[in-house]
Amino acid sequence: MSTASEAKANIGVVGLAVMGSNLARNLASREGNKVAVYNRTWSRTEEVVEAHPEAGFIAAKTIEEFAQSLSTPRTAIIMVKAGKATDAVIDQLVEVFEPGDIIVDGGNALFTDTIRREKAVRETGINFVGAGISGGEEGALNGPSIMPGGSEEAWHTLGPILKSIAAVAEGEPCVTHVGTDGAGHFVKMIHNGIEYADMQLIAEAYDLLRKAAGMTPAEIAGVFEEWNKGELESYLIEITAEVLRQVDAATGKPFIDIVLDQAGSKGTGVWTVQTSLDLGVPVSGIAEAVFARSLSAHPRQRAAASDLPGPSAPPAVSSSDRDAFIEDVRQALYASKIIAYSQGFDAIIAGAEEYGWDIKKGDIAKIWRAGCIIRAQFLNRIAESYAEHPDLEVLVAAPYFAEAVSRTQEAWRRVVIHAVAAGVPTPAFSSSLAYYDGLRAERLPAALVQGQRDFFGAHTYKRVDRDGTFHTLWSGDRSEVEETGSH
Ligand SMILES: NC(=O)c1ccc[n+]([C@@H]2O[C@H](COP(=O)([O-])OP(=O)(O)OC[C@H]3O[C@@H](n4cnc5c(N)ncnc54)[C@H](OP(=O)(O)O)[C@@H]3O)[C@@H](O)[C@H]2O)c1
Repeated sequence: MSTASEAKANIGVVGLAVMGSNLARNLASREGNKVAVYNRTWSRTEEVVEAHPEAGFIAAKTIEEFAQSLSTPRTAIIMVKAGKATDAVIDQLVEVFEPGDIIVDGGNALFTDTIRREKAVRETGINFVGAGISGGEEGALNGPSIMPGGSEEAWHTLGPILKSIAAVAEGEPCVTHVGTDGAGHFVKMIHNGIEYADMQLIAEAYDLLRKAAGMTPAEIAGVFEEWNKGELESYLIEITAEVLRQVDAATGKPFIDIVLDQAGSKGTGVWTVQTSLDLGVPVSGIAEAVFARSLSAHPRQRAAASDLPGPSAPPAVSSSDRDAFIEDVRQALYASKIIAYSQGFDAIIAGAEEYGWDIKKGDIAKIWRAGCIIRAQFLNRIAESYAEHPDLEVLVAAPYFAEAVSRTQEAWRRVVIHAVAAGVPTPAFSSSLAYYDGLRAERLPAALVQGQRDFFGAHTYKRVDRDGTFHTLWSGDRSEVEETGSH
């Protein structure tokens, strides 16, 4: 074990639980890096350093020793429990770091916390970078997708280090300077929101194949393996096949049937929906995915409702229709997935506008191509769409995706109709289709909502045929008056 007095490290990691220790090992494995490590509890540091002598870590017992072990400008990545622990470690580092040094928070922080922390740390002359890191423990070790925010100055030092450890997609490292202050954590949050939607859509496809088409988990695993060879190719489809193939050693049953059907979450999906509500962006696919997890996690309500009736004559998928049904579900999944990404990018566009970030949408799609949970073939198509049409109003209208939904929308409708008739819940498939139909509608019933609002609350409305703001005197003679400025 090296000690702080022997050598200087160019990068340090604070927090050596699974993510921090793997990230530190990843950093140490790259040419030119010397890594200092510090953890609140020294015994954990000892464990990590002893288990990985090849990494040549410089182990620090105290935060002061940690700072001394780093060459300047000092650069440290914090990988501790998001929340109060992050603030505690930042406070400690600010005490021992100097102006020009860089503190990176690689945890799953809420982007508004990152904005607050960046502002506070910047006042000391120290750089603060909130960096979203995706890919779980495996990604941290072998190459994650990294979404750093913070200043250009910090990126100058940090960029080469992060590029050295990031996943690589088609020769390009999956890291880019997303934007200033909280931009990186914002984009990571949206990434996680899209991940929720993607997982829920896949789960709905599975449920339909199981309940409506009567297929076994092993058969469905085969379907997902096939799908992974085409336009749905992605990490989540790949692991879905593996999960469905798994057999429980204790019972011999399919693994999927012995897992309690109550989904957990760590909050980033909720943040995405809350933030999007504030921004006025309809991320309905993501919201339905979050709600579906919530519904699953209410066992007493579910038990109380379990005798409520379903359809009296649910449609059956005959064996001769099965292949066509599977293909319809595949197309419905693809179309709904396009909507989930389109909505996620809408949230990024709105967030960038609200917080003044210059986020390059195509670059975001590119850094999600490898290392992260939503890595997928079709992110290349998103990057190309934004490269060809930088001012694209909405991703689903880009020529590539417009063609894809045109091709798949009939199947999508058949699947949603079938699901409703069969009583199989498909909230993400259905809401994505409703969003699609709402988006493409020439006229929306929002006109009626405006009429109602004006009726009961004098909220006024605009007319289709001339400028101005109007109110109808509903409780008077029902003539129309033009508002003059005060509303
Ligand atoms: N797990 C994942 O797949 C994943 C993926 C992406 C991002 N992340 C994010 O990465 C970060 C680290 O995740 P993790 O799962 O490796 O660890 P974690 O369980 O979230 O946190 C444990 C680490 O935090 C330290 N810690 C807790 N409270 C502290 C305090 N008050 N002061 C100083 N240190 C404190 C612990 O030190 P002690 O040993 O002293 O207790 C330990 O090193 C989190 O923000 C997480 O959200 C995780």
